[in-house]
Amino acid sequence: MMSLLTGRRILLGVTGGIAAYKAVYLTREIVRAGGEVRVLMSAAAKKFVAPLTFSTLTGHPVLDEMFPDPAPVDPVHLLPGQWGDIFVIAPATADFIGKVANGLANDIPSAAAMAFRGPILLAPAMNPRMWNNSAVQDNVARLRLRGLHFIGPERGDMGGVHEQAGIGRMSEPAAIFDRIEELLYPDKCWMNRRVVVTAGATCEPFDPVRFISNRSSGKMGDAVARQARLMGAEVFLIRTNSAIGEPPSGVEIIKVDTAAEMADAVKALFPTADLLIMVAAVADWRAKTASAGKIKKHTGILTLELEPTEDILLWAGKNRQEQVIVGFALETDDHIVNARRKLEDKNVDIIALNDPTSADSVFGGDSIRLTILKTYCEPLELPAMSKREAAARLLSEAYGYLK
Ligand SMILES: Cc1cc2nc3c(=O)[nH]c(=O)nc-3n(C[C@H](O)[C@H](O)[C@H](O)COP(=O)(O)O)c2cc1C
Repeated sequence: MMSLLTGRRILLGVTGGIAAYKAVYLTREIVRAGGEVRVLMSAAAKKFVAPLTFSTLTGHPVLDEMFPDPAPVDPVHLLPGQWGDIFVIAPATADFIGKVANGLANDIPSAAAMAFRGPILLAPAMNPRMWNNSAVQDNVARLRLRGLHFIGPERGDMGGVHEQAGIGRMSEPAAIFDRIEELLYPDKCWMNRRVVVTAGATCEPFDPVRFISNRSSGKMGDAVARQARLMGAEVFLIRTNSAIGEPPSGVEIIKVDTAAEMADAVKALFPTADLLIMVAAVADWRAKTASAGKIKKHTGILTLELEPTEDILLWAGKNRQEQVIVGFALETDDHIVNARRKLEDKNVDIIALNDPTSADSVFGGDSIRLTILKTYCEPLELPAMSKREAAARLLSEAYGYLK
């Protein structure tokens, strides 16, 4: 599948911390996505991971010696920091951060940081006591002021058995990968805007162990949230616990189970939002009364009385001020007529119509075929595309409605 990193050039600096092994996974993910990676290593980094691992994964030799013996005929090839769309340092040690903050360039990664002209992203990793040391904090603050980007560190277990938990753990490779995509993504039209996205299928319990739900995987909602983040937005993702896979990084996640919980979360965030995209498959009905105990297995028929859940999109359409609202419609019959009715009845700007019976739009898949409906416009039938590309189209369409 085409990724945003396909054909992009990533210069990766690895410095000497236990998290260096995670840089191997990061390299593998970027290469798998079609990106080109060149690795620079500090002397300490080579104590943790062998350069051979990186050169095998990337297909290029690792740059690790400032003064190799014998000196190469063409030393220009050794000049670090002259290649790449982005320079990522993962892990970035306290020592490396200190060197760059003070303009030192006595090894390959630090010299590259001095010479590099594109965006620089650091993923610090260190013992929490080191991270909290005011010298490290001062250095980080100075680098931030100079426009260098940081991801993490996170709170959690450190690599070693003797390490205490706290803030210092390097962000996971998947999160660093997402951040690289974000920094390289050119269109930031949602910058300084707040976007609320819902994702997944709600679950409506009728006893403590059973519920009514639907087949939505949450993948499209996740793709919209991730894409809104790439386009610069501050993103709030209201995501059901049943949604599959890892949620996107860099977005605030609000976990919910039921339609009522989702309604509460939307109502809390909507007043300050610029855009609401309701991708979640919210149950239309729930049990009128949920049994407190597990319903005993009957030999006969069990009849459940269902009542409608709150229509969150309708609520949003009634309570909107300047917010742009996008709804999703999943129709199996009379698609366009029903979706257009939804657009008008609910007072929303865009309805993205999804036909799950089409071969390109199956539940849980990575591609989708959407038809976009807007008031006074002919339906726009998009071809089948990845959920991420569809999310980008939708966010561009929604941008046209911003006040
Ligand atoms: C087992 C071990 C683990 C280490 N882990 C880290 C670490 O996670 N973060 C860090 O900043 N330094 C860590 N250090 C210390 C660095 O390796 C040391 O400061 C080194 O000089 C860093 O060099 P570099 O920044 O050129 O890679 C560790 C040292 C050892 C022996």
